[in-house]
Amino acid sequence: MLTTIHNASELTEIILDYRKKGLKIGFVPTMGALHKGHLHLVKMSKNENDITIVSIFVNPTQFNDPRDLEKYPRTLSKDQELLQSTASADILYAPDVDDIYPDGIQSGSDIGLGGLDVMMEGSHRPGHFNGVAQVVNRLLEIVKPDNLYMGQKDFQQFTIINYMLKSLSIPTKLRVCPIVREDNGLAMSSRNVRLSPEVRTNASIIFKTLKAVKQKSRILDIESLKQYAIKRLDKPPFKPEYFDIVDGNTLLPVDNLDNHGYIVACTAVWVEGVRLIDNMVLKSDL
Ligand code: PAJ
Repeated sequence: MLTTIHNASELTEIILDYRKKGLKIGFVPTMGALHKGHLHLVKMSKNENDITIVSIFVNPTQFNDPRDLEKYPRTLSKDQELLQSTASADILYAPDVDDIYPDGIQSGSDIGLGGLDVMMEGSHRPGHFNGVAQVVNRLLEIVKPDNLYMGQKDFQQFTIINYMLKSLSIPTKLRVCPIVREDNGLAMSSRNVRLSPEVRTNASIIFKTLKAVKQKSRILDIESLKQYAIKRLDKPPFKPEYFDIVDGNTLLPVDNLDNHGYIVACTAVWVEGVRLIDNMVLKSDL
């Protein structure tokens, strides 16, 4: 039975009770408009914990574009239904802005992110990762979970949160869930509902390009791979914003595939006013 809570102090009390009982807590932070990608995170948490808490909070401090914040889909009752019947989560925490930012949204101080926030998404969305780190830090302060579940879909985001956990000595363990895709390969995203049916179908070009880049990475150098990808993605109405090939740990661009053990191709593509992001691990010695 799903319990919905809107208030941090009420949630803290319930969590204290779980702790007294020695229950293990898994936490899935989201911004709602839930899809199968989110539900996969919930499933992973349910498999590995006694209690699964999901949060839905459209965090204003991570939106650098006010129109994107305004247009972000909000579907709370449908989400509740999914969490209750499909995912069987235990608690939904759906706070108001005041609950997360009691001193106002400008109040949060910057959290050092080791320079991982300046490239790729960071360079195109100024302040975005500081907002993400702020809200995740605040949510972790309230929930204090054993395990935190995040998606590989947002590669830079989970890398930054992992850095934050270590740098702030937060004892929560990060668990990363593979990218869940639509049938045509498009990475599931809450923003996909804003695409016209035709573009949503054709957006498979992003996954196809990533796959082709992975295949060609055995024969082409980095610069040629990037040029190939940009050329393939740059077909109206699609407009690539970046296509980077980076070290999976430092997020810095690589110039040679042989000198790094963990390499990821990351991209952002604009279409119909929506920004789609995706990535693929090209090489991992882990
Ligand atoms: P949101 O976009 O709702 O995503 C919530 C979580 O679901 C993130 O960890 C994201 O990586 C994961 N996710 C989204 N699409 C996925 C997919 N197709 N496959 C697997 N996992 C997927 O990311 C955020 O919210 C926010 O930035 C948040 C972390 C909640 C902070 O506000």
